[in-house]
Amino acid sequence: MSSTDQFLSFPDNFTWGAATSSFQIEGAADLDGKGPSIWDVFCRQEGKIKDGSNGDIACDHVRLYREDVALMSKLGLDAYRFSISWPRVMPTGTGAVNAPGLDFYDRLVDELLGAGITPMPTLYHWDLPQVLAEQGGWLSRDIPYAFADYTEAVLDRLGDRIGTWTTLNEPYVIANLGYVTGEMAPGHTSQADGLTASHHLMLAHGLAGERIRSLAPDSRLAIVLNFTPTEPATDSAEDHQAAEVIHDTDNRWYIDPIHGKGYPAETAEHYGWDYSEVQDGDMELISQPIDLLGINCYFRQIIGADGAVPNGPDVIQNTMGWEVHPPSIGKLLRWIHREYNPKSMMITENGCPMPDDVRGDDGHIIDHDRIAYVRDHLHQVHSAIEDGVPMEGYLVWSLFDNFEWAWGYGPTFGIVEVDYETQERRPKMSADWYSAAINANGFSLPETPVQYRGSIGPNLMDQ
Ligand code: FCB
Repeated sequence: MSSTDQFLSFPDNFTWGAATSSFQIEGAADLDGKGPSIWDVFCRQEGKIKDGSNGDIACDHVRLYREDVALMSKLGLDAYRFSISWPRVMPTGTGAVNAPGLDFYDRLVDELLGAGITPMPTLYHWDLPQVLAEQGGWLSRDIPYAFADYTEAVLDRLGDRIGTWTTLNEPYVIANLGYVTGEMAPGHTSQADGLTASHHLMLAHGLAGERIRSLAPDSRLAIVLNFTPTEPATDSAEDHQAAEVIHDTDNRWYIDPIHGKGYPAETAEHYGWDYSEVQDGDMELISQPIDLLGINCYFRQIIGADGAVPNGPDVIQNTMGWEVHPPSIGKLLRWIHREYNPKSMMITENGCPMPDDVRGDDGHIIDHDRIAYVRDHLHQVHSAIEDGVPMEGYLVWSLFDNFEWAWGYGPTFGIVEVDYETQERRPKMSADWYSAAINANGFSLPETPVQYRGSIGPNLMDQ
């Protein structure tokens, strides 16, 4: 280490881990009685997935989970966040449990525990049983109750070994990309549907939370929300107003009701929502205390009166066109702490798809750009901790290259490359960097830091 290097040490109990989700890595689409999910069906619709691919095989993780856990152990992960596939556990959405489906998660959890890795399951990461979509999906008020029953079936089997239960992953994306823009399954394109779905998702969180509290009283209750730090393009009143609406929609719509503040009223009015789906008792269920807030954050957005401002040539961006802007995550964490004061917070997803086009002599991908991304975001987490923000850990997205939803297999988020022909896993240089950081419980900052763009307009999280 040169004299100018600065080493950042993390708290002793800081959790270092990685995240994945069922549909993106598992494969085994109809193995052992698994039913189809909305994503199995969506992938088969013409033009929905950029490369025409699907999740039938993906990373073949159901077959290879033992090797995968061994790899996690070699990297030194403290925790592994994965999701449970509802249609694998309950192919018909409600009623009978598919024992072999649940057996898989039982084995996975034991394998993780045996390797000293904390399993962090998410109960819903977007793969709704198709039969439930045919009954209305998240537009139906019955689905949250079905979700609570499914949660109970999972708790019955795994409840004795799980410390933290996460109900939903990113309700914003489910409601807005699944029901408003139609980019994701089930592909609806209606603002009104999005609002209905958003409330039913929150209700599902509340009902499942109640079951978790009563059936696994020693475990912690968590939800994972995504946030996109938002700045107005200029100081003009029009840009400001447009950015406020997006900020409320993207960053406040879910965290507000969870913390007892109700849905952001001005934005509800902006969308013309009459709250007709909200019934007596719903908001109390939704605002029951959680123990951990999971935070997913990838990029910053600049909003003008005409919508999102595209990145200029000077902007550092990833292969999906998302701006790389680590300072924004620092502001986000301080804002959440200040505004909502959650008991505990964790980055449950952060990472980036990069070109991955440089290889070393041994064939491994040399991804300095991904290392810089993860390092500089972790640096922000470190500063937030120093400022008193209760950050308990960081989970990189993702352990593996995998099926990136509507983008298919194009974007590579993994710190481990997957050869889809052979299913060989090859750690990239970022995996080595991450593993070393875990071992040292910290890392050195480079002598020459990456220069990111400054603020464009006033960041709405500064206010
Ligand atoms: C998040 C999702 C995750 C992954 C990343 C890139 O929105 O939760 O499954 O696709 O984006």
